[in-house]
Amino acid sequence: MIHNETIDNILTRRTIREYTPEQITDEQLETLLECAMWAPSGRNGQPCHVRVVQSKAMLDEMNVDFKNLVGWDTPAYTNWDRNPFYQNAPTVFFIYAEGDSHMDAGIMVENIALAAKGMGLGSVIIASIGGLLNEKEGIKWKQKLDIPENYKFLIACAVGNGCEDPAPKPRKKEQYRVIKAD
Ligand SMILES: Cc1cc2nc3c(=O)[nH]c(=O)nc-3n(C[C@H](O)[C@H](O)[C@H](O)COP(=O)(O)O)c2cc1C
Repeated sequence: MIHNETIDNILTRRTIREYTPEQITDEQLETLLECAMWAPSGRNGQPCHVRVVQSKAMLDEMNVDFKNLVGWDTPAYTNWDRNPFYQNAPTVFFIYAEGDSHMDAGIMVENIALAAKGMGLGSVIIASIGGLLNEKEGIKWKQKLDIPENYKFLIACAVGNGCEDPAPKPRKKEQYRVIKAD
């Protein structure tokens, strides 16, 4: 097994769901955005539009809208009962596109998560908020985020200074095979 900084970042990144209130620096934010924008995309279509929210008031308002819509006692997501959808991280990236560019958004969001890890920050990738942002109640948020109404929310990523060190979740090793020449 080869180890270097890139590989070890991939292997040791964990979803973080506890954060300090301290905001990330503007330099860290700029780096994350640059890494997001340098993600590859199919046929170099660059379909993803990114909005970053660093306002706790706005994120909490979105969380109230979300939980009012899907229910406050639905234990469907991790820490649902205790944390808002963004797990109290101070910075949240929202990725939208005009079409079904889930692949491109997924690759972009992993760039953000790995770049965060590379700067000693924690992150959590968030799909759940699609339960609000892709419903008619999400139009208000498209307006607030300056996103056209026909765009789809694809994925989000919350980033901040993590304050937990969760155990790794074992991977299903049996799910790969290598086929070599006879
Ligand atoms: C596409 C995708 C959507 C996810 N959505 C959420 C989410 O809405 N809320 C959440 O707390 N975690 C979410 N996660 C985090 C996963 O639960 C986490 O990656 C998984 O449990 C593996 O843990 P690890 O990232 O620490 O290896 C999501 C991850 C991915 C890749």
